Amino acid sequence: MRINNLEEYKLEKENFDKNPEEFWAKKANSFTWHKKWEEVLDWDFHKAHVKWFDGGKLNITENCLDRHLASSGDQIAIKWIANNPKEKNIDISYNELYEKVCQFSNVLKNKGIKKGDRICLYMPMVPELAIAVLACARIGAIHSVVFAGFSAKSLCDRINDAQCKALITSDGGFRGNKITPLKKIADEAMKNTPSIQCCIVLERTNTPIIMKNNRDFWWHEEMKKTSIHHHAEIMDSEDQLFILYTSGSTGRPKGIVHTTAGYMIYAQYSFENVFQYNHGDLYWCTADIGWITGHTYIIYGPLLAGATTVMFEGVPTYPDAGRFWEIVEKNKINIFYTAPTAIRSLEAYGNEYVKKYDLESLKVLGTVGEPINEDAWNWYFKEIGGEKCPIVDTWWQTETGGIMISNLAGINKAKPTFATLPLPGIKACIVDENGDELETNNTEGKLCVKYPWPSMARTIYGDHQRFIDTYFSSFPGKYFSGDGCYKNEEGLFRITGRVDDVLIVSGHNLGTAEIESAIDEHKNVCESAIVGYPHSIKGNGIFAYIICHSSPKDKKATGIEINDLITKHVGPIAKVDKFLYVEGLPKTRSGKIMRRILRKIASGEFNELGDTSTLLDPNVVTSIIKESQK
Ligand code: WTA
Repeated sequence: MRINNLEEYKLEKENFDKNPEEFWAKKANSFTWHKKWEEVLDWDFHKAHVKWFDGGKLNITENCLDRHLASSGDQIAIKWIANNPKEKNIDISYNELYEKVCQFSNVLKNKGIKKGDRICLYMPMVPELAIAVLACARIGAIHSVVFAGFSAKSLCDRINDAQCKALITSDGGFRGNKITPLKKIADEAMKNTPSIQCCIVLERTNTPIIMKNNRDFWWHEEMKKTSIHHHAEIMDSEDQLFILYTSGSTGRPKGIVHTTAGYMIYAQYSFENVFQYNHGDLYWCTADIGWITGHTYIIYGPLLAGATTVMFEGVPTYPDAGRFWEIVEKNKINIFYTAPTAIRSLEAYGNEYVKKYDLESLKVLGTVGEPINEDAWNWYFKEIGGEKCPIVDTWWQTETGGIMISNLAGINKAKPTFATLPLPGIKACIVDENGDELETNNTEGKLCVKYPWPSMARTIYGDHQRFIDTYFSSFPGKYFSGDGCYKNEEGLFRITGRVDDVLIVSGHNLGTAEIESAIDEHKNVCESAIVGYPHSIKGNGIFAYIICHSSPKDKKATGIEINDLITKHVGPIAKVDKFLYVEGLPKTRSGKIMRRILRKIASGEFNELGDTSTLLDPNVVTSIIKESQK
């Protein structure tokens, strides 16, 4: 599936344009199927209906594991690096991973879990998380990984939304010099999750915990009872593989659903091509498996390609800000994929942390999750890549399942701050307010995709109408990403950021509505509105405008109380950076908060507020500005 040079790249684009279905069918042929598909593609974007390779039968884990055993069983599949540099790292070969996944599949079976059941995973970055993900896929259970930084309330909501039957967690998780008491948080969540029948607990931190009789079971004890063989469940191409929650601009988080065959094909295709993976390369993606990047580019993509994937338990700044580079040197990492927020924060620590290490092994660098600014791009290119490594700036989303817009490392041109071009197989376009496509270069508008791709989300769990409304209604006939995009004179795409009420903070998607409802829990808060403002490390900081019932006596204390509430309801990643206590909020006559104005004020751009005449009470703006200048 590898495109090896610019000629092949162009040819692949032509092949796709000539016959998209044949293009994807050719890719699909290289996988292990129990039965080939009957129809390559069936779609209707107006109904958000998409099916790829319908009628096909397969199991994704046979493609990740079994098919590699004969040729590469002894090769390392997962190279795990512990949070604490003094702790021994663990190498797991394809043979060993296969056995562990089979064993844990049997554990799940023994607990009465069947095809189609939903299983929630709330775990630290340990090999057992990858094993649990794959075991779910092997028995046909649908995994829902919840990032281990989320609060009990967020975990509880996600478990209930998907009606999960089991929860897999650990006693605790190491992150830098902290321990997150995961089982304790899970216990709090499980007070209100009637669907949970069993909880399997991995021992990791030896944190004292309470095990509830007949509900909680130790991972190691259950594993001892099971065999290392398991026949994978045979799944349909369109059977659900996983649910992953992402924040929306309104209401509850959305359970994005991915299905089996299309996701699998696109994960391997995009992994091999974007990173130009060669057999034997050591590949490291620093994301957390709690996010889509970890699903597709720590677990599925690399394992499908038979690669060695590095999995790191810790944080970039522990024991110091040289940790990433120490790991690169020690392990001779070849391909390194991280987020702009990590790059900016490590740049801020200074070059002495980089200079200590030999980064010669690096061949390809990648970024994902938010726009990368030119300064950070240049630092990454020069100080980390030694001006010899191509950088792939990869634009994609939880909903797209895999990388959509990116240069292919070393094949087509990179340009700082540009994701550059859609991959062969992807028809991205830019539209104006009316949904008309802007086909010329040097234009700016909203980023859409006008033809299905195999790894696209199929629905929002339990709410297909919301799926249609969110992604397929703004511009009928097209998938709308929610991002703004500029196309330069050469036709290269630059993502300019969200155009809806989703905030990207340190690369994490946060919904304004979720955070505001946590803030509104405070007894003195009457109403709130949050917006992003430019932040040198996080990309966006969170700025909260707050209306109180009575003027807070101690603003600092109120701010701390509000952030505690956010930590409790959403998680510490959503904490507010700046508070402004105001008398009113700028609203339209229909009662909608004009965030555009609040964003400008938060960024100090008081003279660029635009038209305020449609506001219910334009005077509100003047008083907010006055307050912000105090
Ligand atoms: C943003 C992460 C600019 C974008 C894979 C998108 C980016 C959202 C880039 C999805 C990039 C992701 N350049 N912005 N290279 N990559 N984004 O669902 O706003 O966590 O809509 O998926 O991140 O975030 P998500």
